[in-house]
Amino acid sequence: MRGHRFQNKPSWAAFLLLIGFLVGALLAHAAGAAVSMSEPESKSLAEIRAQGTNGLIAVQPWVQLLDSDRLGVGWLTTQAADGIVEWTQDEGGQTWKEAWYSQDGLRQANSTVQRAIISGYDPAKPLRLRARSRPITSFKPYSVTFGEPVTEQERHFPARGRADGSVSFLVFNDIHNRVQLYPLLTAKAGKPIDFTVFNGDVLQDPQSEKELRDYLLEPMAWFASQSIPCFFLRGNHETRGAFARPMKEYLNLPGGRYYTAMTFGVARVLFVDAGEDKPDSSKEYSGLVDFEPYMEEQLEWFKREIASEPFKQATWRIVVMHIPPDWRRSASELWHGQRRVCERFAPLFDAGKVTVVISGHTHRAEVIEPCPDKSRGFQWPVFIGGAPSLTNATVIRVDTDPTTLKISRFHTDGTIGAERTWRKPGA
Ligand SMILES: [Fe+2]
Repeated sequence: MRGHRFQNKPSWAAFLLLIGFLVGALLAHAAGAAVSMSEPESKSLAEIRAQGTNGLIAVQPWVQLLDSDRLGVGWLTTQAADGIVEWTQDEGGQTWKEAWYSQDGLRQANSTVQRAIISGYDPAKPLRLRARSRPITSFKPYSVTFGEPVTEQERHFPARGRADGSVSFLVFNDIHNRVQLYPLLTAKAGKPIDFTVFNGDVLQDPQSEKELRDYLLEPMAWFASQSIPCFFLRGNHETRGAFARPMKEYLNLPGGRYYTAMTFGVARVLFVDAGEDKPDSSKEYSGLVDFEPYMEEQLEWFKREIASEPFKQATWRIVVMHIPPDWRRSASELWHGQRRVCERFAPLFDAGKVTVVISGHTHRAEVIEPCPDKSRGFQWPVFIGGAPSLTNATVIRVDTDPTTLKISRFHTDGTIGAERTWRKPGA
């Protein structure tokens, strides 16, 4: 018995050691990638986190592109408040206008989520804006009591509409919460940058407001601090998690939708929400998704779009969508969402003679060339961005002017992995 008890002692010690090791490993994992981050990554992450404050304005304003001449501004407050944005295009800044968000006759108030819509500004002129909130200390039917108003620092946006209609923008994909990649890649992509697009899976299955704040709102606020508005396009991971539904209350979206088209000079840019990658009936969705009719709605919208004058008159027609159409793989190899993109969207891209598609999703940076068999369609290249490690991450840069379209894929080491230039016939 004694011997037996003696023999058991090392087993208990080993067991406790194992528990200690597992707890340590879990804590290290919880501390996140910061432990293993390089110095430039840590510095980039600190820049993003600097958008959060301890004052009434908890997250500095982020600015979302609603159309070529409309902007949506959002910010968070630490307590229930109201919010307006003051903005000016006066050179001296003597005259400031006010913008706010209202729905069903009620201005946004008594919430920690603030919004404002700036319409009617001239994108050919610089714009300055600043958000202002008042804490609401008491909200009674006929009397609301406010605390001291707080105005955050100004954000400046240069003239976007250059005289010849040129536009330049960045497309990020599959960041999967590694937000430190934004400053690193933006620095490599050069200037000017008129706006940036988040092309899906930038968030990893958002579960809470904190995750939305850390991985989307603060990064968008960082871009605003760099004078760059954002356009947020969903991937298949932004549709998952407990916060996939509340997320929309924090965002300014054109017409309240995730998909839209905009004209910049001679370019028509089409933002397509590629939806989920599995059928609605898949057990992973617990019977709570309804993408089939939503995707039919977008297909009908795209048909109307290619028949529209702005689309037909555009020299460059650029589609941005998370899931790439890939003619190289047979239908049996493709997941449901990819098959839908190939079988339903790709024929419309051919019918509309789109110039190029920009995608992500596969985590493999490459360019899919147009299909050699023209009878199959797919007569446009697909630029796919890589992800999500530091060495595989990329940003795709688009530059258009009346005679030229150039697309370049930048990597974190500053190299250009792919580049393509189109010239207008006869130019
Ligand atoms: Fe994806």
